[in-house]
Amino acid sequence: MKKHRMAIIGCGAMSQGTHFPNAQKNPRVDLICACDINRSVAEQCCAKFGAQRAETDWRKVVEAKDIDLIVLGTQHNIRGEVIIPALRHGKPVYTEKPLAPSRKEMFDIVYASRETKAPVCVGHNRRSSPAILEFTRLLDKAWQTQTATPPAVDRSAERKHIAEEKQMQLLIRVNDDIRSWKGWIFRDEEGVFFAEMVHFIDLALLFNRSRPVRGFAEGSARGNFTMILRFADGSITTLFHTMVGNFDYPKELFEATVHNVTIAMDQHIEIRQSGLKDESQLKTFPFSEGCDWSKEQGMTGYFHEMTRERQRAEQAGETPRWLNVNKGHYAHMDRFLDHLEGHGPNPNDVASAVPVNLIALKLLESVRLGLPVAIGPEDWQIPE
Ligand SMILES: NC(=O)c1ccc[n+]([C@@H]2O[C@H](COP(=O)([O-])OP(=O)(O)OC[C@H]3O[C@@H](n4cnc5c(N)ncnc54)[C@H](O)[C@@H]3O)[C@@H](O)[C@H]2O)c1
Repeated sequence: MKKHRMAIIGCGAMSQGTHFPNAQKNPRVDLICACDINRSVAEQCCAKFGAQRAETDWRKVVEAKDIDLIVLGTQHNIRGEVIIPALRHGKPVYTEKPLAPSRKEMFDIVYASRETKAPVCVGHNRRSSPAILEFTRLLDKAWQTQTATPPAVDRSAERKHIAEEKQMQLLIRVNDDIRSWKGWIFRDEEGVFFAEMVHFIDLALLFNRSRPVRGFAEGSARGNFTMILRFADGSITTLFHTMVGNFDYPKELFEATVHNVTIAMDQHIEIRQSGLKDESQLKTFPFSEGCDWSKEQGMTGYFHEMTRERQRAEQAGETPRWLNVNKGHYAHMDRFLDHLEGHGPNPNDVASAVPVNLIALKLLESVRLGLPVAIGPEDWQIPE
């Protein structure tokens, strides 16, 4: 088995909560280095996750001969300045999302990756969530079907099809709780609107069958907004974000309707569908590793478990344990390792992240101006 000698640059919340533990449990990874401008944080990560050495200067990391894969877990103000030299030293990079905050920086990363042939994988990890992969499979089937189960009252034989029947209506709801956010998100130029919504814009682009042509966002750029993306075939994706929700309530709901099939993906733990007769109407997915104390699955299971857990914690005078769900972080990295070994595609090639980021930036203009914005070839085509 090939061992990938990994360094993680940026040892903050995301790296400590996800990348270090995942690297530690992945038998294909040798964790060589933890790098952070804050030495004590890097050293703590060595002690806690078994990285062999701590560094404070990323330049030493990208030049090191005993490292062959970089994970970049800094905030998005530090991307090209680390990624491009890493690629020039022949090191592939897995970078956290968002890819970068400017067109030039994104293009420079793509050009460097093409020139050096060293791949970059972007951390739109929901692409690798088991529930999202299943949602994608069902949606592909729905796009192809002409035989959705009939409604109780079916008058379709009395008329010809109309054009709108070939469109998809997709709703993505993000229920967030501002009380859990760190302060930097409010000082950041692009905020959660950019940093977080790229996950969902990425999936909207994957799920739709044509290019977006127009976007409009209404609300506050800091949170509590709705984005509307109109696609060339007339399909609409609505992305609803609230920051005044409760964190105990599941965060992510996707609901797609196409060709009279309705498919919902709830919080990466449950899929419901109606219309595809040879598929089950309800499927559930296990919670993340470490949540083995839960017995039930799915949305009903979630609420039963959380009610019991709150009661248990209150009696024991403890903080309730959290029911984590599998949003695909481990699999996304593992699929990238497969790609580096020559098996399978890059799960999130850097070029595919460019339109996602450019559209997110356009929508940011829209929400600030209160106006719809055009989306065109300049938002997805990367010139040679
Ligand atoms: N994929 C996901 O599900 C997901 C979830 C949360 C956050 N993120 C992304 O992860 C990234 C990090 O977020 P976070 O919440 O961990 O931020 P954070 O502020 O907690 O961590 C960033 C770390 O980078 C370090 N750092 C800054 N400059 C550095 C430099 N020049 N060299 C080395 N280290 C440096 C900081 O000291 C800090 O420890 C963001 O881009 C965020 O959008 C992704």
